[in-house]
Amino acid sequence: MKRSITVRLVAMFALAALLIFSLIGSALYGVLRRELARHQQDELNTRYLDTSYMIGHNGDPARWPRVQAKLDTLSPADGSIRYWVLSDDTRFQYGKGLAEIEQLDRNPNGMGIMMLHGREYPLHTMIGTIEPFQDRPAVRLIVAVDAAPYMHTLHAFMTALVGLSLLGVLLVMLLGYWIAQVGLRPLKQLSSAAQSLGPRTLSQRLQISPLPGELSDLTIAFNGALERMEGAYNQLEAFNADVAHELRTPLANLIGETQVALSRQRTAPQFEEVLQSNLEELERLRSIINDMLFLARADQGEAATSLVRTSIALEIDKTVEFFEFVLDDLKMAVTVAGDVNAEASIETSLFKRAMSNLLHNAIQHSNPGAAIAVTITQQPTAIQIAVSNPGKPIAEHHLPRLFDRFYRVDAARNDTNQSQLHGHGLGLAIVKAIAKMHGGGVFADSVDGMTTIGFSIPAGDAITP
Ligand SMILES: Nc1ncnc2c1ncn2[C@@H]1O[C@H](COP(=O)(O)OP(=O)(O)OP(=O)(O)O)[C@@H](O)[C@H]1O
Ligand SMILES: [Mg+2]
Repeated sequence: MKRSITVRLVAMFALAALLIFSLIGSALYGVLRRELARHQQDELNTRYLDTSYMIGHNGDPARWPRVQAKLDTLSPADGSIRYWVLSDDTRFQYGKGLAEIEQLDRNPNGMGIMMLHGREYPLHTMIGTIEPFQDRPAVRLIVAVDAAPYMHTLHAFMTALVGLSLLGVLLVMLLGYWIAQVGLRPLKQLSSAAQSLGPRTLSQRLQISPLPGELSDLTIAFNGALERMEGAYNQLEAFNADVAHELRTPLANLIGETQVALSRQRTAPQFEEVLQSNLEELERLRSIINDMLFLARADQGEAATSLVRTSIALEIDKTVEFFEFVLDDLKMAVTVAGDVNAEASIETSLFKRAMSNLLHNAIQHSNPGAAIAVTITQQPTAIQIAVSNPGKPIAEHHLPRLFDRFYRVDAARNDTNQSQLHGHGLGLAIVKAIAKMHGGGVFADSVDGMTTIGFSIPAGDAITP
């Protein structure tokens, strides 16, 4: 069973109440007990003094019956107060001779306790010797007060105390339950608000204003998580739409060309030509899919692993070599300048891929005969590699978006030929992913007819992103 806050609160309230009631109860019980005992002693004392005074001033056997009569009236019928006068002289005696009394008579003067047969509670006694007076010898006076009424009072008090305490605990539990329900109401509201959230209502946020302080931190954190989820979700949705869009064009081309080829009789060379063209289209598709898989892996946090410390300029030179023929054809030249001695820990295959994408773009976007410059800049914590080429300026608002997937400045996505000419808009996204896999970043700039796009990697050992 799940541990409920309400149940725990109620149990804690009950425990606290039980503790408080027990403490107060036992203190009250102690006070009452002491007071009752004192009261009992006072009564015993008073009775003893009164009677001993009366007997003490009586020494005439003729007047003894009056003493006896007085003692009779002083003894209630229920036997709660009793008197005995013990004497060897039979003329001065009072009370029935009980075995217990004989026993008690041997006790010294003062307070005592006497158990009478058949009684539940003891009698409290006071014994004293009264000096001889006139004809009367010394007698012993015993006054006994029954403890039963006091014990009954104590008993009744105890019963009431236990009963009331239990009732109190029950009440506190009920109150505690109510308090917990009221106190936890904001939490319930929060959870029902959270339950209503779904993919369709991703832009909704939980309301913070009516919540108590303790919950607002949680809500802020939850809203933050929602924000990130929404971002990721939207990105994913846009990405899916883009993927569908990007794959549709090459597929439409393939289907179109194949249908045309099949529409009438063809010779073998004609079919060969169609197959050749289809193969190119299929290879394009494969390259889009490979790029997307690469980006997906990078997105999942894959980092560059097989790092080697190497000269940056050397790796750039190796990449430029691949473009040798293209550059010759277009009469273009690539220069590598700046901190050519810079070294960094890189995964060379990834680095060359990023370089190649940048060079490819530079070649594509500049006119024949242009001079392309690669600049290496050693900074305190990073090394920047920038590729610049002369070309049409790129509007400011495009710059930060160049690295988005499928983003192209000309946005000529629907034009088949343009699309073939300009690639599929994943090149710079891959550059960014590679920079990130090394713990670096990207930048783009377009001033005075020069477009500069590049990336940076940490100067020291690569940091895992
Ligand atoms: N050197 C550059 N000069 C001008 N525009 C550029 C340059 N490099 C990139 N761009 C713009 O940025 C867009 C995105 O470039 P990216 O390399 O990501 O895609 P692509 O070159 O269109 O396709 P891919 O590289 O996937 O074949 C390009 O379509 C282009 O509009
Ligand atoms: Mg490109």
